[in-house]
Amino acid sequence: MPFLAINPYKQLEKLGMTYGSIFTIFLGKYRVIVLNDHNVIRDAYKEDAFSGRPDLKMLEVRNGGIKRGLVCSQGRVWMEQRKFTLRHLKDLGLGKHAMEGLIREELNELVDGIRKQTGTPVNLLTRLQLAVLNALWKITCGERYHHDDNRLLNILKKTGADLAETQYTGPLLFLPWLVHVAPMLTRWKTFVNSITIVHQFLKRIIETHKNSFRENAVRDFIDDYLEEIASTKDRNSSFYGSTGEHSLLITLLDLFMAGGDTTSTTLYWAFLYMILYPTVQKKVQKEIDTVLGKLPPSLEHRKRMPYTEATIKEVLRKSSLVPLGLFHSTTEHTKFFGYDIPKDTVIIANLHNCHNNRNYWTDPDNFRPERFISDDNLPKKYNAFMPFSTGKRVCPGESLARDELFLLFVGLLQHFTFTVDPSNSKPTERPKIGIVLSPKPFTVIANERL
Ligand code: HEM
Repeated sequence: MPFLAINPYKQLEKLGMTYGSIFTIFLGKYRVIVLNDHNVIRDAYKEDAFSGRPDLKMLEVRNGGIKRGLVCSQGRVWMEQRKFTLRHLKDLGLGKHAMEGLIREELNELVDGIRKQTGTPVNLLTRLQLAVLNALWKITCGERYHHDDNRLLNILKKTGADLAETQYTGPLLFLPWLVHVAPMLTRWKTFVNSITIVHQFLKRIIETHKNSFRENAVRDFIDDYLEEIASTKDRNSSFYGSTGEHSLLITLLDLFMAGGDTTSTTLYWAFLYMILYPTVQKKVQKEIDTVLGKLPPSLEHRKRMPYTEATIKEVLRKSSLVPLGLFHSTTEHTKFFGYDIPKDTVIIANLHNCHNNRNYWTDPDNFRPERFISDDNLPKKYNAFMPFSTGKRVCPGESLARDELFLLFVGLLQHFTFTVDPSNSKPTERPKIGIVLSPKPFTVIANERL
């Protein structure tokens, strides 16, 4: 099972060269179908039959062994949770003008924090994590944290580094007995400890809400959810009684994990590319100066900033943050491209290959934003570009993520020029591998422009 060991998406790419764009592998007790090409991924993921989630070992601890919440659920539970979460986050401001204000508030604090460290090495990651999470957290549970707040920084470390370092993306997924045979290798205990700490943190927030909850005075998403639990009479609903309370915990965990680390790590990649490709950084700043001058960035500016938009897309392509997406599974027996696919088959979409296929992109290793701009200076679309996946389970946070990426990237480059920190060795583009691909830790030097 070499594929699981080091570089899973590369190993799958290699298998794809021999076996084509759809092939089956067996991992432990699991039958796994790999989709290695954007056309087959798009065709499969638009079908209901492909929109399940597999039963994996880590669910035992993460979700109490049950497919609850939004990310790991399927069928009726998933539909109820996804519909409710999206509708209420939208009502509370997601994708609206109000959200832009929240993100801008975070940008201002980011700029102030970095300004205090100009000329000295700074690791942008934790600052970016707090800024990104705060915007979502404000509408979810009414709280935001100061950028130097150690409480949230510690929790972020648990969801980020600690979970990424455990092998829950590797052999453990498919060989659960490894926990007993090689506990040190799988770092199962670290995973359990980290997830327990995050659970406790979220439970405290829920308890505070329950204690101060007043009917018809909804403050945030948690209040909305508590109201839904109180009004649900259908015993089979995922909002009913104690099931509903557990669903709330898991849905919050889903938002916390899916909504925080993803966007901040993408921004971390963006600034890595900016220091490694200073000419791109200069071009983005030139566009910022021409379109914004000293005005604060607004989503309205986007249409007039094709190079900046193209640069953000190139960051999403080249970093391929979630290289194999989140695994799907089949919810029923189905036929696909003439193949019979049994129920409960695990489906892996190799998004990394979509973004790095040489036959499609010609020079995928180059960081070249121009590929996303047409000859008449308009955005150029690619079917193989799907950083947020596609189909029924496409990332519901895409528009929030895109807004955050634009406002924070532009806002920081408006104020600072970032360069390689000469006191450390030059950072590498080779990623740390986990469910998400993140840059190896690096520091930058920020110099003020305005
Ligand atoms: C650059 C940032 C982001 C990237 C690259 C990204 C990417 C992805 C990908 C590839 C998936 C898997 C979809 C599938 O199963 O086929 C996903 C799912 C998900 N994302 Fe994101 N995401 C980002 C930001 C966000 C944000 C900000 C939120 C929070 C609002 C979020 C919430 C979710 C949730 C809840 C799911 C599970 C959806 C489901 O199972 O139905 N993501 N994301």
